[in-house]
Amino acid sequence: MANEIFTSNPAKKIDQDIALSELGVLTKCVEQIYPVNVHLINIKGNRQEFVSGQAISNQRMFDAQRIELDAAHGIIIYGYSKLTHKQQKDVESLYQLIWPKTRRSLKQNIIYFLKTHPEQILVNFADALRKLYCGDDIHLRGLIEFSNYCGRNCLYCGLRKDNKEINRYRLSSNEIVDITKSAVALNYQTIVLQSGEDNAYSIEQLCQIIKEIKQQTSCAITLSLGERSFSEYKKLRQAGADRYLLRFETSNEQLFRKLKPDSDYQTRIQCLKDLKQLGFQVGSGCMVGLPGQTKEILAEDILLMLELDLDMIGLGPFIPNPETPLNAAEKGTIEMMRKVIALVRILTRNTHIPATTAVGSIDPQGRQKVLCCGANVIMPNLTPQQYREHYRIYPDKICIKEQPGDCHGGAAAMTISLGRTISQGFGHSFKTRK
Ligand code: 5AD
Ligand code: SF4
Repeated sequence: MANEIFTSNPAKKIDQDIALSELGVLTKCVEQIYPVNVHLINIKGNRQEFVSGQAISNQRMFDAQRIELDAAHGIIIYGYSKLTHKQQKDVESLYQLIWPKTRRSLKQNIIYFLKTHPEQILVNFADALRKLYCGDDIHLRGLIEFSNYCGRNCLYCGLRKDNKEINRYRLSSNEIVDITKSAVALNYQTIVLQSGEDNAYSIEQLCQIIKEIKQQTSCAITLSLGERSFSEYKKLRQAGADRYLLRFETSNEQLFRKLKPDSDYQTRIQCLKDLKQLGFQVGSGCMVGLPGQTKEILAEDILLMLELDLDMIGLGPFIPNPETPLNAAEKGTIEMMRKVIALVRILTRNTHIPATTAVGSIDPQGRQKVLCCGANVIMPNLTPQQYREHYRIYPDKICIKEQPGDCHGGAAAMTISLGRTISQGFGHSFKTRK
């Protein structure tokens, strides 16, 4: 997989015009924050040809630094010596982030941004790329947490089988279909059906639910039911499910084994490949701030998201749950979340990235903060109120007390307060395949 990144990296694959317009967007962000002018150049042997940039005064001509992005492309930064060493490295690293030479150098760059303090430039650039690729629309996906039973024992999750502190519940097929119908009345165009890995619902029952929803509404259906076999995924797809969410949680096999003692990393990655092969729009991602997760591992997580060529990327901070073995661990921070979301937007360009409930749970303004650095989706909770407090993956989850309509209103108000618009469409993947 090591080299695949350079064929799946949009900057290398898409046509020159788009790559140049991205460089132009970055240059605008850089010039707004730093006292420099940046020119893009084509390199032809010993000669260089200017592609873009404003006229430069004579004085500035002598204070220039040329940086080669690859054998044929580069930038010249005028006013280079006015920058501190840190700023020089920030600017160079940003250009190399969207025009990486090798996987190794890209990883080093990601680690560099993960280790340095939050930089306005990273956030501004991510927001500008979000606008370029996704526009101002925020997509609302109605989330129905229909069962909190789970057969697994992930160390971090409150739904784990061995947690005896929560009351377990299951919604019936009729309840699920009815909630979906009321969601459509609230203008939702996507419904997300999520549960623990609960085998009490047979594939036939799940397919029946999907078919009924499709017969009675025009909703797009996203499933988030965990690991299943290829043939089961196939049946769900044939029944009409459009999308599937399955986070890989961590790209580090050793850490995966520790945190998910009854799961297998390779099987999970295979599930993601199966889902893609079956034509699902696929979402995956990880938690940020997991115990044992180093910056190197987090950089590998981000690279894996890129290599999997995902349609949607779900990211949330790890939040220690008192009812789990990881009760005493530190939680993920909003600062790290912002950086990761910004980096993921910058590197993946046109994926759907939700401002997750977990982000809103560690910071009252958390969702707004990440919507301003790359995120473009909100998933309001439609689970009936009496069940919500029992879907306790982590503590202090927001929206436990609200009614479905309140969550919808809150998401709409958030969208408008940010100067964004509520999507009127299905919000399918931006990627075109086949
Ligand atoms: N903190 C934050 N997120 C968690 N998840 C599970 N447990 C926690 C926790 N303690 C996330 C996992 C899972 C998703 C449904 O919830 O990433 O895929
Ligand atoms: Fe079950 Fe998913 Fe929680 Fe693991 S993370 S215990 S599989 S609900």
